[in-house]
Amino acid sequence: MKSSLEIPKHWTFRSRAVAKHFTRHVREQLPWYDLATNAVAHFGRHYIPRGGVVYDIGASTGNIGRVLQETLDQRQARFTAIEESREMAERYDGPPELVVADAVTFDYQPFDFTVCFLVLMFLPVDTRTAFLHRLESLTKPGGALLIVDKVQMPPGYVGTAFSRLTLQQKLAVGARPEDILRKELSLAGYQRPLDPGMMPERARTFFQVGEFVGWILTAPER
Ligand SMILES: C[S@@+](CC[C@H](N)C(=O)[O-])C[C@H]1O[C@@H](n2cnc3c(N)ncnc32)[C@H](O)[C@@H]1O
Repeated sequence: MKSSLEIPKHWTFRSRAVAKHFTRHVREQLPWYDLATNAVAHFGRHYIPRGGVVYDIGASTGNIGRVLQETLDQRQARFTAIEESREMAERYDGPPELVVADAVTFDYQPFDFTVCFLVLMFLPVDTRTAFLHRLESLTKPGGALLIVDKVQMPPGYVGTAFSRLTLQQKLAVGARPEDILRKELSLAGYQRPLDPGMMPERARTFFQVGEFVGWILTAPER
């Protein structure tokens, strides 16, 4: 069984200890992490044009930038990773340029491809809809916005079954029951799953495992 990680009582990414263990911790907590990451790389190959503009919002240690690297190089695209935690940014190991900033107030250029991978659930609830609309309006014709996030579960027994799937999968990859529980309680008030109703009708689902969903929002081509 894996060793216990340092889990703060109140979850934060502004912690050297959290940043140090992030890359291992996220795989232990989310067994599908690499699968969904590879799907992002796949869509990147479809939507990043030559000289394109690309953002990775909530970049952490550079996972998304790393899988996009080959396409970015091949298309000579302009990449910007945005991360608000200095502690995470210190551990960033992805393509330049990394900017330490609040993604909600960041001054974006119109873009061809933007990824929000497990970040919207950490934004203040009252900023999310306006932020999503702003990103949509900044997507260039033919471009795409990708979102992977945790969503609120439907009411009733089926919602319970979905939530237990997450627990069961964490156990299956060897996370310690105590760590799972402490992390869940630590996230209270900071990680708030998305209301799936905030997604526009035209958002297409490309991924779902229990509570976690991936959408692609493409801009009209004219
Ligand atoms: C679960 S991690 C994201 C994982 C990452 N995208 C990956 O592929 O491994 C969430 C990240 O979003 C960052 N974050 C949270 N709120 C933010 C904000 N307002 N602006 C920029 N980054 C933010 C956190 O500091 C944290 O590093």
